[in-house]
Amino acid sequence: MWPLDTIAVMEDYRALNLANWDERAPAHAASPAYGLQRYRDDPAHLSDGVRFDRARLGDIAGLRGLHLQCHIGTDTLSLHRLGARMSGLDFPGPALAEARALAASVGARIDYVQADAYQAVQQFGAGQFDLLYTGVGALCWLPDIARWGRLVAELLAPGGRLFLREGHPALWAIDDRRDDHLLAAEYPYFETEEPVLFEEEGTYVPTEVAFVHNRTASWNHGIGEIISAVLDAGLRLTQFVEHRSVPWEALPGAMTIDADGEWRLTERADRLPLTYTLQAVKD
Ligand SMILES: C[S@@+](CC[C@H](N)C(=O)[O-])C[C@H]1O[C@@H](n2cnc3c(N)ncnc32)[C@H](O)[C@@H]1O
Repeated sequence: MWPLDTIAVMEDYRALNLANWDERAPAHAASPAYGLQRYRDDPAHLSDGVRFDRARLGDIAGLRGLHLQCHIGTDTLSLHRLGARMSGLDFPGPALAEARALAASVGARIDYVQADAYQAVQQFGAGQFDLLYTGVGALCWLPDIARWGRLVAELLAPGGRLFLREGHPALWAIDDRRDDHLLAAEYPYFETEEPVLFEEEGTYVPTEVAFVHNRTASWNHGIGEIISAVLDAGLRLTQFVEHRSVPWEALPGAMTIDADGEWRLTERADRLPLTYTLQAVKD
């Protein structure tokens, strides 16, 4: 990633990020990495992400589920295939068009809504969900983690559960362009008022597409800030596990893919947590 300056005003971050995601969603849908055809060929096919989560998710049959920041709907469809009654929310129209087309092509009934994440309660109403599933590159697009925690608590019905698997803030802070592969903290670990701007020509999956809108604005949130956001919103923490693997090649050249298709540090993998799973319940 190419760090640029940080900016003092945030009002344009949605427009900047939306232009970026508008372009990338169709390229992701066409990429072998997302492999949409596999969902059409095999009615039991699940995304790699949901397969990783499956044991921790447990039985979700019959739950009213919301996938916040669902992108092109591969995880959402996988949760539907595990028996949850799914809704999905994301903000670029092209991502939702892909998600809807995929669901329609396999006869899955999933309710997809186009909105900003912070508008989810206005879209669905409060207390409507038994399961709120999100992560894998979702939280970094939201400037205020405490506000996100309150949003999650409001969306969940009593007894409902948050399931979050996400890139670890310690990983997001690491310089991913060093040739010597030293793990050097370059970017903010804690939440900052101003976003960090990046200019990146590609995306996180291999593609031949040449993109025009390459600037993004994103934020990190420290683990303590994320856990506090959940606790301060009144949820009860039921699981917090850190993992040595991540679904994308986060530190190019320093990682090796494992048997499950996740990426690990090639050398001394115990140095750094790469992702985490957090679960919390609304009592
Ligand atoms: C990396 S993707 C999530 C990936 C997902 N786990 C997957 O692999 O399919 C991040 C998603 O967040 C969405 N997003 C970013 N900012 C958002 C916002 N303010 N409101 C709603 N969605 C947003 C993007 O459109 C994108 O689909």
